[in-house]
Order: sequence, then C-alpha cells, then structure tokens
Amino acid sequence: MASVKVRFVFPGGKKIIEAEGQPGERLLDIAHHHDIPLEGTCEGQMACSTCHVIVSRADFPKLPLPSEEEEDMLDFAGGVTATSRLSCQIWLKEEWGSLEVQLPADVRNMQGR
Ligand code: FES
Repeated sequence: MASVKVRFVFPGGKKIIEAEGQPGERLLDIAHHHDIPLEGTCEGQMACSTCHVIVSRADFPKLPLPSEEEEDMLDFAGGVTATSRLSCQIWLKEEWGSLEVQLPADVRNMQGR
C-alpha cells in the first residue's frame, strides 16, 4: 500500500512538519509520532476536542462526513472553522495521496484544560 503524505501547518503557517502515514493510521497518532502539539486527551473517545485540526479546503472533500458525536464535540473546540475535524476521527485512506491540516491558533491554550 502506498503511504499518505501528511502536512501539519502550525498557526500562521510559521512552521510546517511533513510526515508520512499508512492507510488505516489515525491522524492523531501520526501527529503524536512527530511531536505535533495536539493533545488528544481522551484518546479518541470524542470527549475532549483537544485533537481539533483545520483541514485544508482542498482536502476537506476527501474525508468522510463527521458523525453526529464528532460535530457535537467540535462545538466545544476553539477556533472552529467550516473545515474543522477531530484528528482522532480521521483514518488515512490510500486514495487521498496527501492530506494537509492546520493546527488551530489556540492549540497551546488548550493544554492543561
Ligand atoms: S482525542 Fe478527544 S476528541 Fe479526539
């Protein structure tokens, strides 16, 4: 299987970390393997929203629609946009080829909440 290129863009585009993930891998786990500051406190139980990312407009349509639980949890995330998702609910698919996500601006403030 071909890997999927993942780009993590830090707030303001000041820093970009490029990673590769395997199909079926969870975006939150890839972030953790590369020391991206996404907390994911609840480990994917959809109870924290600290794993919030903003998917690029170009890539957003590739993703399956969020579940109702995910949408409800996104209501609690800071800096939510129309292309916001929870990274614990994104499993890479080979056909995407690549995926670009931005970290929300208040990602640091969420730590310790
Ligand atoms: S890790 Fe808590 S909602 Fe994603």
